Amino acid sequence: MKVSVKVPATSANLGPGFDTMGMAFPLYNTVTIEETVMPGSGVLIELVSDFDYRDKALLEHVPVDENSIIYKAVELLYNSIGQTPAELKITVDSKIPMTRGLGSSSSVIVGALIAANELLGRPADEAALLSIAAEIEGHPDNVAPAILGGVLMASIQEDASVVYKKLPWPEEWKVTACVPDFELSTEIARSVLPKEVPMKDAIFNAQRTAMFVDAIHTKDSALMKLALQDKLHQPYRMNLMPGLDKIMEQLKYEENVLGCVVSGAGSTILLITENNGAEKAKAIVKNIWHDLNVKVDMYDFPIDINGAQIIS
Ligand code: HSE
Repeated sequence: MKVSVKVPATSANLGPGFDTMGMAFPLYNTVTIEETVMPGSGVLIELVSDFDYRDKALLEHVPVDENSIIYKAVELLYNSIGQTPAELKITVDSKIPMTRGLGSSSSVIVGALIAANELLGRPADEAALLSIAAEIEGHPDNVAPAILGGVLMASIQEDASVVYKKLPWPEEWKVTACVPDFELSTEIARSVLPKEVPMKDAIFNAQRTAMFVDAIHTKDSALMKLALQDKLHQPYRMNLMPGLDKIMEQLKYEENVLGCVVSGAGSTILLITENNGAEKAKAIVKNIWHDLNVKVDMYDFPIDINGAQIIS
């Protein structure tokens, strides 16, 4: 038996919602798991992609042994029903840029979990899959939209279950992902965060997260513009992303630009615009990065509303 699952790219945090908010985009990694007939062959993991040379080189450094998050995901699921994985061939067709804050690791965790679950006759329901995926990642803001699609807030409860609510993102608000040619590993981007933050910064984000949710429900662009700010992670990551401070400063005053936020742990920058704001905003990002010798790919993304799908 062979199962293939395609899983969307995701952007986490969305400004004030550190480790809480996320959205899914129509750019997919596909994970295929096949039962092999060779006894004792163990779990083989293969990564393929048609990326440019930079990401191809990155791919070579992704673990494909028992240290792989793909292996971990499959193992956790098998263990949950008292089994251990064996005689499996797992292939990942990788289309989501890696180490750019677009949820490529979440997508393979989610794809491996759903494919293995299907192979095992679906022992885990959606809630269990969400909980295992969030446990592996340590936060739910990429894995939840990767599984469910859309824009949502998610939270890990004390019993490890994930509570989520989908949010009705207004069609009028355009999202552009500006993906630079420099990498930023989540591990490094999390290592620069402090263990504790000033109370006033916590309050700042709590207020803006509340604004964010209401602005989406009421399609209030002015409120969204106030909401798309953060003091919990972006300021600490500023030094890891050349030009980010200048880009944010310039976009603050642009008409029809609701915000500019770091996608997940970076290095991608997400622009949220309305009317004809996207082109001007993209030009600003391009120019600032060009001056710093940073090449950038820009994607105007609609929201993926379906999340992970079993395709065969
Ligand atoms: N919320 C996470 C972070 C997303 O910003 O570190 C990246 O995995």
